[in-house]
Amino acid sequence: MRYGFATGAVALVLFGIVGCTPPAQQQRRTEAVDKRDFGKTAAGEPAELYTFKNANGAEAAITNYGGRVVSLKVPDRAGTIGDVVLGFDSLDGYLSPNPYFGAIVGRYGNRIAKGRFTLNGAVYKLAQNNGENHLHGGIKGFDKAVWKIRAADARSLELNYLSRDGEEGYPGNLDTTVKYTWTDHNELRIEYSATTDKDTVVNLTNHSYFNLAGQGQGDILGHQVTINADRFTPVDQGLIPAGELRGFAGSPFDFRQPHAIGERIGAADEQLTFGKGYDHNFVLNGAAGTLRVVARVTEPGSGRVMEVLTTQPGMQFYTGNFLDGTLRGKGGKVYRHRYGFCMETQHFPDSPNHPNFPSVVLKPGERYQTTTVYRFSTAR
Ligand code: GLA
Repeated sequence: MRYGFATGAVALVLFGIVGCTPPAQQQRRTEAVDKRDFGKTAAGEPAELYTFKNANGAEAAITNYGGRVVSLKVPDRAGTIGDVVLGFDSLDGYLSPNPYFGAIVGRYGNRIAKGRFTLNGAVYKLAQNNGENHLHGGIKGFDKAVWKIRAADARSLELNYLSRDGEEGYPGNLDTTVKYTWTDHNELRIEYSATTDKDTVVNLTNHSYFNLAGQGQGDILGHQVTINADRFTPVDQGLIPAGELRGFAGSPFDFRQPHAIGERIGAADEQLTFGKGYDHNFVLNGAAGTLRVVARVTEPGSGRVMEVLTTQPGMQFYTGNFLDGTLRGKGGKVYRHRYGFCMETQHFPDSPNHPNFPSVVLKPGERYQTTTVYRFSTAR
């Protein structure tokens, strides 16, 4: 309650609106767009930071550099607001090497084996930026592009990026739009759409790292996770799926009932060894194309809850196994091993090389369209 009042007052000062502060919980959003300079890329392109405060005083901040979610500030069970995503205070942090914090990933989220695929009989060679494999769109993926602002208002931001024919080895000019909306129900809604002028492959996702206890506050091993999936796509040592859709049969991958991330992460299991923890695509239950709840995460200390809704067929559950304490993020916080987890809603890794996986081919005249929602609430 106190926070709501205080932030209401700050908002009034920020936007220069004269009048009474509405009582907490009944605030109305200011309709002004909160847009600030976020710095310039090495090539001198300016990036901006958009901040969206909803009627509850909860807040999302997004930059058009890589379409990155910079912060998500949501209440815990006592109403105290905390930032639940990893990231940096300024553009410089994002320009330095980092593991896709908050980014839109494209053209292809996750790996394509040996950086090659065949489409209509032609072989396409992609950048090999992860050992012999292609990862997250290549050397300069969508996470490093400065996106155009298509539209912005008090609750949403629409970003556009034209990926040219041949970029990172992919065929076709891909015109991509991502719309972020921060709702009054503490939901971050992400709507992706794309069209092409040549047959191509596309698989877009968001790579936010969550820590519901608050960013930089510790590891995520105590978070309780439920995933609505009966199968996953097991991988080889290079994290490339073999093509199998494997049931869990009591394995550490069975999250149909809630389990703490840390409960079985150290189990003697070949898949966990390959992933250095969880770094696997779950085959989501329910009809792809329908927005449905696919995961729920609760953090017992804060009471914060995150639900993931998506229209996608798969979700990469990654437990920050490559975080190693070398990155210092927002507020000087050090990001140590497993300080964040990702739930990257997507098509399955390496789909272009697996005809039995749902197709990722986009053709001229078609529209790629997916929606994912990260919804925050609290539990006792
Ligand atoms: C994805 C991959 C991981 C890792 C991270 C980024 O989630 O599946 O293996 O590459 O991105 O560090």
